[in-house]
Amino acid sequence: MERLDLLARIGAVGADGGITRPGLSTAEDEAHALVAGWCEEAGMAVSRDRAGNLYARPSGSEAAAEIWSGSHLDTVPSGGRFDGALGVVAAIEAVAEVAADRPGAPLAVVVFRDEEGWRFGDGCFGSRCLAGQVGAEDLARRDSAGVSVAEALAALGLAGPPVEVALPAAYIEAHIEQGPILASAGAAVGDVAGIVGIAGFDLTFHGASGHAGTVPMADRNDAFSACAELALRLRERALEIPGSVATIGDVSVASPAANVIPGAVRATVDVRAPSREALDAIVAAVPALASYAADRHGCSVDATRGWRSEPLELSGRVRDAVRAAAAGLAVPIAELVSGAGHDAGVLADAGVDAGMLFVRSLNGGASHRPDELSDEADVAAAIAVLAETLRSLL
Ligand code: HGY
Ligand code: MN
Ligand code: MN
Repeated sequence: MERLDLLARIGAVGADGGITRPGLSTAEDEAHALVAGWCEEAGMAVSRDRAGNLYARPSGSEAAAEIWSGSHLDTVPSGGRFDGALGVVAAIEAVAEVAADRPGAPLAVVVFRDEEGWRFGDGCFGSRCLAGQVGAEDLARRDSAGVSVAEALAALGLAGPPVEVALPAAYIEAHIEQGPILASAGAAVGDVAGIVGIAGFDLTFHGASGHAGTVPMADRNDAFSACAELALRLRERALEIPGSVATIGDVSVASPAANVIPGAVRATVDVRAPSREALDAIVAAVPALASYAADRHGCSVDATRGWRSEPLELSGRVRDAVRAAAAGLAVPIAELVSGAGHDAGVLADAGVDAGMLFVRSLNGGASHRPDELSDEADVAAAIAVLAETLRSLL
């Protein structure tokens, strides 16, 4: 818990106590350096790959058929102190504990770069580099200040992909649940059956800017009105598709001014669903409703589809190990599906036996917010279950 406190001080900490550690930023790098020190204190040999992913091995060197545990250290803007960081500090504890009584066991702590993806518009950067899924167009993506991924990597002294690191035999990521299900089930930890499908879009609505005072309402082509129309109709559509969600979380008006009608508005759309057909339905709705909304307001719209990851099941072998470990330790556990994306999903998609161990969220499951919370007893129980899971996977 002290280590979570120390990590929480790295990066911009807002008045609300929220933490901002963007992917591929110096703040994320500082957090990686702090964790590298803890791993070395625990007797592990630390290395990092060309994408900046960190590896810490008790045995000192890469082995075949490794079992990895870890997560990420970047955060969303004004995020909480558990998302990512909890999985990293839990992995250090559990891997060190198992290595102590299994010298030479092929274990590693891993920390993936830029999992959140909001800075450059595409998540799980580090694990996707490991899986060989990052190409030139990804490296050319720019953040709101115009900095490209390639430039951000270079600024951190990182060569960037390709990453020549052998995939592990299995991966288990401890992670705060980020929802209310475990608390309502009275479970301290979660057996994660799978991860929802996720897709992202970048939209730009083009209208006509103009004087806020002299253009009659009936004559306006207000790009923000078009975007607002999309937001409300997309909400209605998501409510019709069971389990689907749609979020417009990043909106910017070009040359914003209180007395100028918005001429151009950029917006991101994040849609998710638990099944392929539901994901297809909500994905199809985005460009359709964007065009409808634009037409209604005399605007046009450019919609580009970014990433799409399919709904996936996590490893039965890892899930069985997690459930057996929880049972053996009499830790109450409940099954659930993750509404959040994770690096574990990228590894599972790459053919690794990947699984997750959720830790009960308090505060109604608040997350991607400063008041994200898990308590010490649940964290301790999760570390014990994680260590036992690692032992049984070896
Ligand atoms: O957005 C997500 O689901 C994760 O927090 N990156
Ligand atoms: Mn996370
Ligand atoms: Mn997150």
